[in-house]
Amino acid sequence: MKTVLQLNTSIQSGNGESSRLAHEFVEQLDADEVIVRDLAKNPVPHLTAERFGAFLSKAETRTPEQAAVLRYSDLLIHELQRADTIVLGLPMYNFGVPSMLKAWFDHVARAGVTFRYTEKGPVGLLTGKKVYVFATRGGYYEGTPRDTQTAYVRDFLAFLGITDVEFVYAEGLAIGEAVKAASLAKAREQLQQLVPAYA
Ligand SMILES: Cc1cc2nc3c(=O)[nH]c(=O)nc-3n(C[C@H](O)[C@H](O)[C@H](O)COP(=O)(O)O)c2cc1C
Repeated sequence: MKTVLQLNTSIQSGNGESSRLAHEFVEQLDADEVIVRDLAKNPVPHLTAERFGAFLSKAETRTPEQAAVLRYSDLLIHELQRADTIVLGLPMYNFGVPSMLKAWFDHVARAGVTFRYTEKGPVGLLTGKKVYVFATRGGYYEGTPRDTQTAYVRDFLAFLGITDVEFVYAEGLAIGEAVKAASLAKAREQLQQLVPAYA
């Protein structure tokens, strides 16, 4: 059973350029099950002391509110655990990842569930997964120190045990219509080349 988790993180929901590329890719994969989590339609709340407290709470003393927070985090994690392939639409907003993606990260990083601490440091518990990232930007960052997104997303996923991560970039989308069209066309070419690798 092959399961794909498509994560749309554009504020434009399915109409974002990153969501479109992610969708076009997923459509061509021969998956048995596709889970679409759209963070614009269903935003993940910001992590607060109360919500983090729920993650740490003991079953014996857990309040109904804490139990609800845990159930919600468990649901997001279950989607991630279930998927062998994760397809992430990743816009750049104000030099970083969408805050909605950060909120999702904050709800799926759970000690003892998706990673654990050992004497040698943290170990990720989500292994054997492949991630495809469709990164869309108004300007140009790929391969420069200003591309903080790539390193950050790679580091976070590696922390959970996911190290097989492929990026496709569509950059210069704010430069002008011709540049945008050419950039999206190039990203779509790369996208097509990745489809056969999905076995
Ligand atoms: C609020 C906002 C902030 C943005 N900040 C940046 C930025 O810092 N750097 C950049 O290159 N493009 C920036 N852009 C342009 C987006 O990266 C670009 O429009 C991209 O297509 C967004 O992906 P989406 O269409 O999937 O939402 C920004 C766009 C918005 C709406």
